[in-house]
Amino acid sequence: MEVVIKSSPTEASKSAALLIKKTILNDPACVLGLATGSTPLKTYEELIKLYQEKIISFKKVVSFNLDEYVGLAPADKNSYRSFMNDNFFTRTDIQIKNTHLPNALPKSIPEECKDFESKIKKAGGIDLQLLGIGLDGHIGFNEPGSSLNSRTRMKTLTPETRLANSKYFSAIDRVPKHVITMGLGTIMEAKICLLLAFGDDKAQAIADMIEGPVTASVPASVLQFHPRCIAIIDESAAAMLKRKNYYTQVYDDKPGWQRWE
Ligand code: PGA
Repeated sequence: MEVVIKSSPTEASKSAALLIKKTILNDPACVLGLATGSTPLKTYEELIKLYQEKIISFKKVVSFNLDEYVGLAPADKNSYRSFMNDNFFTRTDIQIKNTHLPNALPKSIPEECKDFESKIKKAGGIDLQLLGIGLDGHIGFNEPGSSLNSRTRMKTLTPETRLANSKYFSAIDRVPKHVITMGLGTIMEAKICLLLAFGDDKAQAIADMIEGPVTASVPASVLQFHPRCIAIIDESAAAMLKRKNYYTQVYDDKPGWQRWE
């Protein structure tokens, strides 16, 4: 795993946006895996700037989001569809028909999950998957205990995740109990995984993910098996890493052909 430590969330988000820019410039019809939550917001702002400066276009880009709350209509202000429309999609030239989130009000949840997987396959797989990390080490909504081989399916949120996400809802009992999420096996098939984490409350999860044992109790630790996983984190999120100095040295000594900034 490549660990890039930046001085602030802004610097980390700029770096993440430049890696996504490189992916789009390499293939303007690339497939991006996208994430919601507070972590990727600055990266989306940077990408919107690059679009406004006409450096990149999303016209041919196809996207798949990691997850959606079961029971929320797309137009619900708390749905992840609304989040993506408001914070990213409607502010770029991406074609809404090329953007995919799980349908959270399906006739059959298992059928919807299968369908979501086959759409990813049909699109040729995900070129770059953007990820945040939960305080408990979840990625997507793969809560601790998730099978390391899991595919898109329904998951039950932990009380801690519902509490963490209740800041977006009027009350905690409004936070749905269930979600549809890409599985860890689904995420692992992305060609590049780009994980972002900021702030000292993420330091433990980041240390467990990068330097702890691979275990379903820390779902993000499965990324240790990924051949091209890049974690771009700020100093606070890096605070508990034992090999912090080494990661910085690796980054500083990177040859030009490995760089994206
Ligand atoms: P956050 O959520 O970006 O709002 O911290 C991350 C996550 O739960 O995956």
